[in-house]
Amino acid sequence: MAGGVTAPALVAAVSNAGALGTLGAGYMSPEQMKEAIREIKSLTDKPFAVNLFVPEARVDIEDVREPIQTQLASIRRRLRIAEEQGAGGSESGFDYDAYRQSFAEQVSVVVQAKVPVFSFTFGVPSPEMIHLLKREGIVLIGTATHVKEAQMLESAGVDIIVAQGSEAGGHRGTFHGDCEDSLVGTIALVPLIADHVSVPVIAAGGIMDGRGMAAAMALGAQGVQLGTAFLACEESGAHEAYKAAVLSCDECSTSVTRTFSGKPARGIVNGFIRQLQPHAEHVPPYPIMNQLTRDIRQAAARQSNPEYLSLWAGQAARLSRRTTAADVVEKVVDRWQEVVQQMK
Ligand SMILES: Cc1cc2nc3c(=O)[nH]c(=O)nc-3n(C[C@H](O)[C@H](O)[C@H](O)COP(=O)(O)O)c2cc1C
Repeated sequence: MAGGVTAPALVAAVSNAGALGTLGAGYMSPEQMKEAIREIKSLTDKPFAVNLFVPEARVDIEDVREPIQTQLASIRRRLRIAEEQGAGGSESGFDYDAYRQSFAEQVSVVVQAKVPVFSFTFGVPSPEMIHLLKREGIVLIGTATHVKEAQMLESAGVDIIVAQGSEAGGHRGTFHGDCEDSLVGTIALVPLIADHVSVPVIAAGGIMDGRGMAAAMALGAQGVQLGTAFLACEESGAHEAYKAAVLSCDECSTSVTRTFSGKPARGIVNGFIRQLQPHAEHVPPYPIMNQLTRDIRQAAARQSNPEYLSLWAGQAARLSRRTTAADVVEKVVDRWQEVVQQMK
């Protein structure tokens, strides 16, 4: 979970509890990654993963549309952010070359630090990159939201596929076809992907406890990936206001929106989403919109204002508890075993 949630303490606690902790490093600089990996290694000698975002194809747009500028300016005024601190009115300056270069540098850190498992979302790395990572013996985990993507990942040589159902919190991993047509629920998606690829499948989306794990395994998954269940944990780096929103939301609180970043993502609906959603057709694509809203999200964090933070969370967030990461892992496994026994 990129954006500071997967603090080294959380990653290490999950790995120490016997699961595979993952550092969401998508927004980190190579230096920040090195530091976080060093810290994780000081806290655990168990395997862990690093997750990155495969860069988007270049989209050339002349200017940010007027309704978006107006809405962001009004939010900046409300948060008392100086206008010049905003990302400005034009995104034509977005440097796609630097963006690609930075992904290559992030991957180099994974290789140099000998991270045992590399997971990714938003696409498929180049054949050269996959070759390099595999040559180093790094296990590759890719993210698919429908069967075709899973087949593309398998053909590219990926070792394990995450089947990300539409219940999942955070950004949709969709990279082939239209995202809105790819909102397939976990219960439909997992058996379909399991039937169409020969590599192991990890189910993700709406799994919060051992019941979800048992269901996913019955559907053909060989593992489960939990995000939302760890958000409110003690070791999570999520802002307190974010944790409070997760702990008080219900199953109708989230929606999939492009308003924060330009890429569809599931989060708890708040003032920002309500204000921008009517103008969604004018929102520029990821990562341009993500850059444009960064100062707003940062100011909201400083002011502990959940109305303007991106509160990424899955549909089952209501099952979250304020506890430790080790307790989440232990209870998932215990309950999974109980459920399997009961079904015999
Ligand atoms: C706050 C948050 C941030 C996330 N960031 C990432 C990410 O950086 N990379 C990624 O592959 N998936 C990311 N995800 C998606 C998770 O990997 C996973 O698909 C999802 O959390 C599973 O569904 P759940 O939230 O219902 O457990 C994120 C999810 C959340 C809730």
